[in-house]
Amino acid sequence: MLIKVILHNSMDVKILEIIDLEIMYRVGRKSVIAVRDVSLAIEKREIRAVVGESGSGKSTLASAVLRVLPGNARIVRGSIMFDGVDLLKLPEREMRRIRGSRIGIIFQDPSATFNPVMRVGDHIAELLYVHRGTRWEEGLKVAESLVKRFGIPSERVYDYPHQLSGGMKQRFCIAMAIATNPELVIADEPTTALDVVTQMQVLSMLRELRDEYGTSIMFITHDLSLALSISDNVTVMYGGEIVEEAPSDDLRREPLHPYTQMLLECIPRLRQRLDFRRFEKESIELPSTRGCIFSNRCRYARERCLREEPPLIDLGGRRVRCWLYE
Ligand SMILES: Nc1ncnc2c1ncn2[C@@H]1O[C@H](COP(=O)(O)OP(=O)(O)OP(=O)(O)O)[C@@H](O)[C@H]1O
Ligand SMILES: [Mg+2]
Repeated sequence: MLIKVILHNSMDVKILEIIDLEIMYRVGRKSVIAVRDVSLAIEKREIRAVVGESGSGKSTLASAVLRVLPGNARIVRGSIMFDGVDLLKLPEREMRRIRGSRIGIIFQDPSATFNPVMRVGDHIAELLYVHRGTRWEEGLKVAESLVKRFGIPSERVYDYPHQLSGGMKQRFCIAMAIATNPELVIADEPTTALDVVTQMQVLSMLRELRDEYGTSIMFITHDLSLALSISDNVTVMYGGEIVEEAPSDDLRREPLHPYTQMLLECIPRLRQRLDFRRFEKESIELPSTRGCIFSNRCRYARERCLREEPPLIDLGGRRVRCWLYE
């Protein structure tokens, strides 16, 4: 009986579980792999950062979860379990009920979220009408109180998108993403376009969201310092693969993968001048051999690394894809 209860609880903790996901894009006659061998879980109440440089597959992963991949993308294998249901097997009609309702979305460019001829508050009213059947006027009232919580005067919900500043728009997008009280929020570079102060405001809003409502957050960024400052756990991606995964504090204290070590060294200390020469020769070309994906940039690369791809090695509480830890 006890075992049953424990089993049930442990199954219950994960809100999202991506299993063995592989995604390709067709470009002309060629196919390129954008995401490979990705397994990753996000627990309830967890803030999980997904970090990686441009082209590492972060947005592809997010789009797959939301099922908004472009037409030339193909999911080769894998499953995406959301609250126990495989999203990849759902009919689009049911997916539409989840997207924007049980899974909230915040994109890098807030303008893309808005319809320029609708007042900003109408966007929230529309969401609530579609997903909850809330009357429009009532939805606007909800919008008023939501934006007020995020430091935006409530009367601004009657403005048009172009009347808001960039920072205000992004804070509004967050209000919109959480209007339906989603269980999971996917934020893809939500603060990249913002100044540092607004960036910090947005981060603390996301933290608040988790603390108050228990919302799980997948926070996508190329900025490791940002990732470490907001998240409980970090997944580091490189060339479409997970190369390291650890609790944020452990990763900060002791990064294991050479790529993560490099990323951490790139975080400039205050008043310290960055030595750009160290990064000059690095190529962002992925190696064409079947060895380690990071081998051509790795300072520890040995012969084996060029030949054989390391698995994601489980070190108990954290994982790393590197032969150094075999
Ligand atoms: N629509 C597309 N068609 C073809 N290839 C694509 C498409 N979108 C992305 N890719 C390729 O897939 C890989 C992963 O791209 P993705 O946009 O997921 O990376 P990212 O980590 O989000 O990068 P960024 O930090 O620049 O947003 C890259 O090699 C990219 O060139
Ligand atoms: Mg992206």
